[in-house]
Amino acid sequence: MADNGPILVTGAAGQLGGIGRTVTGLLLERGLPVRAMVRREDDRAAALRTAGAEVVVGDLLEPADVYRVVSGCGRVYFGMSVSAGYLEATVTMAAVAREVGVNALVNMSQMTVSQMSIQNTTPSRQQRQHWLSEQALAWSGLPVVTIRPTMFLESLFPLAGPTVRDRGRIELPFGRGKTSPVAAADVARVVAAVLADPAPHLGRVYELTGPRSQDMQGIAREFSDALNREVTYSDIPPEEWERELQRAGLPEHLTRHLVTMGELHRAGRYDRLVDGVERVTGRAAMSVRDFVTLHPDEFGGRRS
Ligand SMILES: NC(=O)c1ccc[n+]([C@@H]2O[C@H](COP(=O)([O-])OP(=O)(O)OC[C@H]3O[C@@H](n4cnc5c(N)ncnc54)[C@H](OP(=O)(O)O)[C@@H]3O)[C@@H](O)[C@H]2O)c1
Repeated sequence: MADNGPILVTGAAGQLGGIGRTVTGLLLERGLPVRAMVRREDDRAAALRTAGAEVVVGDLLEPADVYRVVSGCGRVYFGMSVSAGYLEATVTMAAVAREVGVNALVNMSQMTVSQMSIQNTTPSRQQRQHWLSEQALAWSGLPVVTIRPTMFLESLFPLAGPTVRDRGRIELPFGRGKTSPVAAADVARVVAAVLADPAPHLGRVYELTGPRSQDMQGIAREFSDALNREVTYSDIPPEEWERELQRAGLPEHLTRHLVTMGELHRAGRYDRLVDGVERVTGRAAMSVRDFVTLHPDEFGGRRS
């Protein structure tokens, strides 16, 4: 066991939520040593190195790579982008973490897992893999902390950014379902707090949402306030959305996951509200309005 070794952060380059990248920064700010795992050498890897992380390159689907990067680390954050090999990567990490003897493994999951069981699953292979991953980690006997966020606010960059910019409209098939998206920055604050002092958190499951559960009209009003111009919500047919996702050329695994997320929103399954962010970090989760205020350019800018 290596409690004084660096903290391993996987998925550290960052694509959508960039949890690993933000966690790396937060841990370095606290003066903690970080080993940041990336898939390839690029500008993102160079930026992590400049920030003070030990950057290691590897593939989470390659057991020898995982063994190399975990060796010498007592604490691990495990998360990677939504992808078809997620369960394999989790079980590989679990096998290695047992071999190496890590003291804390913080596992990124999804809040939908809270509603799942053997009898009650969803069509998303990603959500099924998170459910199975949590099962496998429980069997592993490892000291695990489970993070289950609802939809990230950052998902609205690709899903709503272009239409808010071009037409002042959020066009999604969420019907009248309520939702409470959480900022990846807040999720990262929770992960960093747990990694900095894991002992009180071991064995716990943290569900994370934003501060309000509201329908998409309410979300659009927060956009309007933040951008100082009218933004409305248009409920589009699920089939139309699926065709658009397919046209965009996303991997099939991701498309199926997003389509399921839309269906679950429509069915009211994202109407959730918990205070996990505040409980762990002492600071309330960011609102939609605050989030859009921080990122106006992603949505076509704020009118002065
Ligand atoms: N988005 C949401 O609304 C949401 C909500 C709840 C939970 N989650 C969960 O959050 C996680 C995603 O977190 P995130 O948004 O922070 O991730 P992300 O920024 O999209 O991706 C993190 C990194 O994973 C790396 N990666 C992918 N496959 C890899 C492999 N085989 N080996 C090594 N690295 C690999 C990618 O590297 P490259 O960039 O080099 O490809 C990427 O930089 C998933 O578990 C997802 O289910 C997401």
